Amino acid sequence: MSKPALLVVYGSQTGTAQDTAQRIGRQAQRQQLQVQVLPLDTYNVANLILESLVVFVCSTTGQGDPPDNMKNFWRFIFKKSLPVGSLSRLDCAILGLGDSSYPKFNFVAKKLHKRLVQLGARVLLPVGLADDQHDLGSDAVIDPWLTAFWDKVLTLFPSVADVIPLREDEPLPPTYIFHFLDSIKEITDQRRIDTGQTVPSHSHPFLSRLVSNRRVTEASHFQDVRLIEFDITGSNIEFAAGDVVMMHPCNAAEDVQQFCQLLRLDPDASFTLTATDNTAVPARLPQPCTVRHLVESYLDISAVPRRSFFELLSTFATNELEHDKLVEFSSAAGQEELHSYCNRPRRTALEVLADFPHTVAELKVDYLLNLFPEIQPRAFSIASSLQAHPHSLQILVAVVRYKTKLYKPRRGLCSTWLASLDPAQGEVYVPLWVKKGTLKFPVEKDTPVIMVGPGTGVAPFRSAFQERIAQGKNANVLFFGCRSETKDFFFSSEWEEGVKAAQLTLFTAFSRDQEEKVYVQHRVRENAKLLWDLIANKRGCFYIAGNAKQMPASVQDALKEVFQKEGGISPYNAEQMLEAMERSGQFQSETWS
Ligand code: 2AM
Repeated sequence: MSKPALLVVYGSQTGTAQDTAQRIGRQAQRQQLQVQVLPLDTYNVANLILESLVVFVCSTTGQGDPPDNMKNFWRFIFKKSLPVGSLSRLDCAILGLGDSSYPKFNFVAKKLHKRLVQLGARVLLPVGLADDQHDLGSDAVIDPWLTAFWDKVLTLFPSVADVIPLREDEPLPPTYIFHFLDSIKEITDQRRIDTGQTVPSHSHPFLSRLVSNRRVTEASHFQDVRLIEFDITGSNIEFAAGDVVMMHPCNAAEDVQQFCQLLRLDPDASFTLTATDNTAVPARLPQPCTVRHLVESYLDISAVPRRSFFELLSTFATNELEHDKLVEFSSAAGQEELHSYCNRPRRTALEVLADFPHTVAELKVDYLLNLFPEIQPRAFSIASSLQAHPHSLQILVAVVRYKTKLYKPRRGLCSTWLASLDPAQGEVYVPLWVKKGTLKFPVEKDTPVIMVGPGTGVAPFRSAFQERIAQGKNANVLFFGCRSETKDFFFSSEWEEGVKAAQLTLFTAFSRDQEEKVYVQHRVRENAKLLWDLIANKRGCFYIAGNAKQMPASVQDALKEVFQKEGGISPYNAEQMLEAMERSGQFQSETWS
């Protein structure tokens, strides 16, 4: 049998599935197989019936949803009109990436597996169910799964074994070649879209003007939380309560400078890119582009680097010490070591580079886009409503900062960048676009809503409250929790006005204003009668938003207790009732970490 052409398609939200798919692609290239690696939505699905060997690498996001770059594929593959048996010529393998701390662990990969079998595909090996919660990360599952996959390929296609694989210690060709220009070219930011033309999207974000950036926690409070407002006049952006705004953060100027120094790059030099295969040049990079622009807004030098970073870096190392260390970090046996060096202390790629100066000096610029992933867009729940604030979009952002064993505190890239933007220093523009969120609010005027949003979880509920009162919907209940009434009670005056105007019933839980901790779930229990009446008699919708630790589960437990107590039902029936509410949309949650 001849050698198969391999197609690796992925659905990736944060880049892990993409990195894994590219790793499979490199393994295939070293086996001298013809291989294509693509996001699922870039691939023409109708061609699946012609493929012989396909690997699907899919992560699961949020509440069991497929990533954005496989949404169209997802709709297509579940079309009822697809004939059973239509994929009977296809050999495939499915690798799922998930997080077992979420209820629908690897839901997308499991569901895809079922569907592919139904369509007649031959699945070569059990679905790989990688878990982010694993001590050594998803590779703990991916490594043995890949070994099993290649064993299977070699059994099915013995001809693959006939070629001598390319050496692992030499880099494969880079994806792009840099062509530096003699003169420095001004780059124009091509991201600003023509008004009235298109709706802003990932590939065409709208450059919105930053209107304000205000700290909303008291100065002495441990956490810096910002209310940030953007002007979206003329953008064609529309949104409803529950929707989210996406944006690409930038690396800090001092990090860009340090990076350029380490790599001996002139930040002002400009270049154009050409691809070495049929890959498209990244649409987000203007051509020509300056090194500064590339590093600042595209290369993710602030994230904890993945294993593939060390793999590629090791191929440039000539210094023995550095080489051995990098090879160890790239190997399956070195993963524990890599985790304690990188993942646990959250060491950034830039900090790693500084630890390997000899290797960095050998790096070839053409490999920059292979070495560093693209900065991923970040999602924020929109905290305002167009009805209350036309032409404006507001978000509530906790500035992420924490300590690890490393001397320098760790900082969240996007929140730190946003917090640093100061409209008083001149006009600041931020590229953004909006996408549908998972929370949906009732259309019927009289349906009550009960919203549980401690901390920044209150953001989508501020939007919902503004929208609903503008629509004359006054049956609103909010459970808000924070540490202290005087330090982090966001939007307190707005809620108080709502209470005065009989548009809101408010319950607060200030966890640290007294000896005993008081949380939103305590308030839910205390208000069992009201909640039962709103939910069972008035068909009210119940929402939870916020941090994905214990809170959502504790609130759900409290709610089930309410059902048992007031409805006189068994724990089993209370569970069933909540599940039924979830299926019908009467219960919804949006949690993030
Ligand atoms: P704490 O920090 O005092 O523990 C917003 O962050 C609020 O959520 C804070 O008052 C915080 O309290 C509280 N919180 C922390 N863990 C929680 C949990 N498991 N359930 C509900 N609220 C929680």
